[in-house]
Amino acid sequence: QQRSIIAIDGPAGAGKSTLAARIASRFNLLNLETGAMYRAFALKAIENGVSPEDAAGLEALAASSSIRLEASPDGNRVYLDGVEVTSRLRDNSVTDAASKVSVHPAIRKWMVRLQRELGENGRIVMEGRDIGTAVFPDADVKIFLDADPVVRSQRRYEQIEAAPAAPIAAAESVLREMRERDQRDRTRALSPLQPAADAVVIDSTSLTLDQVIARVEEIIRERL
Ligand code: C5P
Repeated sequence: QQRSIIAIDGPAGAGKSTLAARIASRFNLLNLETGAMYRAFALKAIENGVSPEDAAGLEALAASSSIRLEASPDGNRVYLDGVEVTSRLRDNSVTDAASKVSVHPAIRKWMVRLQRELGENGRIVMEGRDIGTAVFPDADVKIFLDADPVVRSQRRYEQIEAAPAAPIAAAESVLREMRERDQRDRTRALSPLQPAADAVVIDSTSLTLDQVIARVEEIIRERL
């Protein structure tokens, strides 16, 4: 009966992805990044000229879209209508559109259904914004990883700078855009970003990644 579902939620830049990857490899679980699915659909909306505000247009587009997420040792692979789009999902335009398309209830319901199918066999770490509250409210372990917004945007800025062919990003615009996306995540009508009642909330503002990982490993060992 033991399914082993670990839910990791929280805002951008809190360190969820790195934490999820490390926990997955430590406990031999599949790591599934749900944000990549919203990003793939946002890419499709951009390519089809559907505005991220056009609820009906997005819903129609979703009905003819196939999104598949695959865990692999070097991260998740994402397929949109059968074509791998993994390397195209980190563009600023996609990041912005993903934040906007994910507000629409019909899109969220579709994604939640896909994510439940993906995770139904268990032995997964699933990372996102609503895993513990909406996708798997009965997850074995729920972690809500938070951090001060200035620290989160600083970490994100350093990631952008470290990337090959890094675009010239201004630190203030990273902070401003992150605050806008946070606000959208926290105030949407359906499953806004918030810790589940039974989540363990970890504030990583003044913790190192290794400290966060150690704490989460301890929680998982107690519960699984
Ligand atoms: O985590 P990531 O930045 O890749 O997610 C992209 C966007 O998808 C986020 O800004 C968020 O608005 C949305 N998202 C969501 N629910 C999830 C995962 C991501 O609404 N479970």
